Formats: sequence, C-alpha cells, structure tokens
Amino acid sequence: MCGIVGYAGRRRAAPLIIDGLRRLEYRGYDSFGVATLGSHVEVYKRCGRIPASIPDTRSMKGTLGIGHTRWATHGAPSDVNAHPHTDCTGRIAVVHNGIIENYASLRKKLERRGHSFRSETDTEVIAHLIEENYAGDLVKAVQESVKSLDGSYALLAIAEGDRRIVAARNASPLVLGLGDGETLAASDMTPLLEYTERVVFPEDGDIISITPQGAEILNQGKPVERPVELVNWCVDDVKKGGFEHYMLKEIFEQPRVFYETARAADPAPLVDLLRVTPALTIVACGTSYHAGLIARYLLEECAGIPVRVDHASEFRYSIPPVRNPVLAVTQSGETADTLWAVRAARSRNCPTVALTNVVGSSVTRLADAAIYTRAGPEVGVAATKSFIAQLAVFMALADRLGGGSLAGSIATAHLSIGDLLQQDVEEAVAVCGRARSIFFVGRGPFYPVALEGALKMKEISYIHAEGYAAGELKHGPFALLTPETPVVAICLPGPTYRVMISNIKEIKARGAQVIGIGLAGDGELADVVDVFLTIPGEDPWVHILTASVLLQLLAYHTARSLKTDIDRPRNLAKSVTVE
Ligand code: F6R
Repeated sequence: MCGIVGYAGRRRAAPLIIDGLRRLEYRGYDSFGVATLGSHVEVYKRCGRIPASIPDTRSMKGTLGIGHTRWATHGAPSDVNAHPHTDCTGRIAVVHNGIIENYASLRKKLERRGHSFRSETDTEVIAHLIEENYAGDLVKAVQESVKSLDGSYALLAIAEGDRRIVAARNASPLVLGLGDGETLAASDMTPLLEYTERVVFPEDGDIISITPQGAEILNQGKPVERPVELVNWCVDDVKKGGFEHYMLKEIFEQPRVFYETARAADPAPLVDLLRVTPALTIVACGTSYHAGLIARYLLEECAGIPVRVDHASEFRYSIPPVRNPVLAVTQSGETADTLWAVRAARSRNCPTVALTNVVGSSVTRLADAAIYTRAGPEVGVAATKSFIAQLAVFMALADRLGGGSLAGSIATAHLSIGDLLQQDVEEAVAVCGRARSIFFVGRGPFYPVALEGALKMKEISYIHAEGYAAGELKHGPFALLTPETPVVAICLPGPTYRVMISNIKEIKARGAQVIGIGLAGDGELADVVDVFLTIPGEDPWVHILTASVLLQLLAYHTARSLKTDIDRPRNLAKSVTVE
C-alpha cells in the first residue's frame, strides 16, 4: 500500500508534501517521512502517525522534495524503516510504493560490493542501485536501476546536484499533477487537487523527469506523450466538512452519490457484451465482493442473466472454465488480487470490464472497458459510499437489461436513503457495544447485506462479527449463541419474511438478543425482537440500499462509542496493492 508524494515548484516542498501525505494516510499510516533538496538532501522520518505540526521540518527550505506514508511490508514500523531511504553517501533519496520481490538477492550482491544498509526494507536496495548507476544524470541512473528490479513499484528519487525528481512506475499507481510553474506526483489524485486539475497517468515502464515546468516521460528510452486529463473531483471532497469522521461524512453523501451514479454511469460496455453472451462472472474483494453478490440477485431476477461471483483472490489460482464476460469490481482500481483476476480472465480470452471509482486507475488500463461510479474520493478506510455507488450501477445495468423494471426504484432510492439517515440507532449501539461477538443474518439479497454489515462492524469496532445466511445458523453457529452474542436480523416483507420470523424465534429461544431490522410499522417483527430498527418505504430493491446504510450507521456509532480509530482502523489500509 503506502502513499508517495513529490513536489517540484516554487514553494517550500516539505510542508506541502506533508500535507499531501496526510491525504494519503488512508493508504498506510505506521510511519512517514520527507526528503527535500536544497544545497543538499535533507531527510526527516518518523515512526507513527503524522502529527499536527512538525517543528523539525521547518529548517527544510528546499522547493523540491519527496515524501512517503507507510504500511509496513518488509520490516516493522520504525524510524529506520520509514521512507525516504538513502544511499551510502546520503546524497540520493528514494520513496517507493510496491514490493521489490528480488530485494534479498539484490541486497546480498550490493553488500558484497561494499554498500552498507540501515533498514530492513526492500526499498533501500533501490537507493543503493541508483548510487551505483549515478554519474550526474538521475534519469539514466533510475532507468538503469529499474532493470534489476522484479516486482511492483511507483518510486520517486532525488539526488544532490540534479534539480529534478525522477519517477518510475511498474504495476503501482502514480499520478502526475501539472500546475502553474509547479509539478506534483502522487499515489492518487487527492494530494494534487489543491494545486491543479490537470493530471497525467503514467504507464508501466515509464520513467519520468519532473521539474517545475512539467514532466517528460520516457518509455524504453524513447520520449512518449501521455494524455493530459481533467479531474472532476474537487478539494472539498477530501475535507471532513464539519463531520467528526470521514466515514460519517461519506455515509451522509450517499443519497447524492446514488442519485448521480445511477443517472451518469454508463453501463453500455457491459450491456453490449451481455446482450451477446448473457452470463457474467464478477471478481472482487471485500465490500466490492459483497456488491457483486447483490448484483447476482439483481441481474438474475430482473434480467434473467446467470451470474457467478468469485473472490478475486481465489480466482487466479483455480481459474474456472468461464468464457463469458468478466467484471472486476474495485473502488480503488488498484487492489492487487482483483488486478490478477483480470489478468487471469484475459489469459482465458474472456472479455473484461472494470467497475471502479477511480479514473486512470490500474484496472482501467488492464480491462477492455471501464464503467465509472461517481462516488468522489472515499477517504475513510471502510468503504461506504463507493458500495452504494456500485449498487447504483448494478441497478442501472439490471434496469437496462430487464426492460426498465427497476426505473421506479432507481428514481426514489436517494430519497429513502436520505430518510434512513435520520434513524436513531442508540439502543442497538448499546447492545452491540457490550458484545464480544455479533451475528448478522439475512436471506436472499439480504444475506450479502448481512455479510457487509458484519464486515463494517468488525473492521471499525474490532468486535468479532460474522455474516450468515439466516438458515445456516442452526447448522453449527447456534452453539455460540448466548445473551452476550446478539444477532442482527434483517427481516423485510417478501418471500423470506415468514421464514425469517421463524429463524428469529429460534435464535431468541437460545438466549441471544435480537436486533431486528424491518419495515416501519411492522408490529409482528417488533414484538419478537429486543431492539427494533426500522427502514422506510415499500420498495424491496430499495430496502437493500437502506438496510445497508443502516448497518453502516450501526457499525459507525458502535465504533464511536468504543472510541476506536474509525477512519484508520488498525492493521488496515484502504488500497490493498499486495496479494
Ligand atoms: C471494507 C473495505 C475493503 C475493500 C476491499 C476491496 O470496508 O473497504 O474490504 O472493499 O479491500 O477494495 P477495492 O474495492 O478498492 O478493490
């Protein structure tokens, strides 16, 4: 994971880079560092989060520099393992996002040739390789050095005596921002938004020379042009806007996100493919996988299209005999497992489409076509609005393929989500906050909603939570039910209502408390559960959205009551670029 930022311009680089790193902290946050180039290379790096002010960087006056926020892979979080890493002389500094797979053998060779290493990281080999290849031209040195590297990297290097940043990219995200007399580079667009809306996405194999005047890109030694694109995200999107946490802000953005995505997203690439071959395989991870599971119900029921949904992390290792279109669902567009699944699908000659929130992300270059959600930047580590945006696309897709059967649901969903946001969850929060373990259960499309509810709860509150198909609890997990193990049961009108009521009674009979989620005014459900949470409206497809949002609120307020670090839960990172 990790985030990198580079700046070449007229302002002091250090505070600007540190500010950019704060915006990238969702990618990793166990240590951070910055290196600037004045008369010489100055480095400041520390273990831990980026503090509000860092007096020690005030002396760093250089207007060119690089920075890094880390999610440890090689070597524990520590001051020494934090980036930037320097060569033996301290005149070359490097930051890197990705993994150098052959670093151990490179390190041995470099040590034999007299280089001394300080850290346990894979990245430090890059600094020493550049040192060996540097003869006054940093572009040539980086070009030569990356030839030895196996693995993934987006890296930025600076060297004393060379007034530019040199970047290289292979299978890790990198975006360039072209400002007025200043040029930036970063792992994603969020640190750039304050300075420019003109961005360039380098390709794998690109070596980039960055100066205040712009960026020159070489690929295989030859100059190449990459298109300049305009971003439609704005800097306010990455601010908290008065909310206590990004996650809450992003939960409250969902009526707008659903409305805009359902209307603006263009599912045409998939519609065309599915009209020719009416069968779909979806590959995704985590929350995006849950959106894929819900898509199965939408597409099978509304459009009669059979859908198979695979964990992207499993797909690569036992590629099923699919020949139909493969859809990769990934908010970030950078999840390594999902990218590998797309490569595996391509190796089977399956047409591939990406559903992502990030223009220019790696998945968009890998897949044959891309469909974009309109969630705007999602900063909280827990996915919320990007999930609702994915569901908006799936509803629009099912509507197109199913002859308009979802038009009514799509037209009103944002209003119901808006109403739901007023729901008071305090009583349920008190029950969940005391629990050691929580089950979330549902049937039909509410089974993946339950899976997603459990994922949200465990990742931000650190309470163990499991999503289950309600009918499966009695096949084993019943043994775990106690008064301290509440069950959140989603029980809405439809074909599964009666059997859910029976399941809830069975759960109650085993001593567990039940938090029921049902339709406002459902007296029968209210009578059998301990805590009753209601959702508005009569539309069963919209209930999928509103129940999901309600479970986000439940997870958020439970985590808040337990005072966890909601936007940056321990051990996680937003964009998982390692397998
Ligand atoms: C959970 C969460 C993760 C991501 C997963 C896939 O809240 O955010 O489970 O959904 O890492 O990420 P993307 O969608 O970027 O591929």
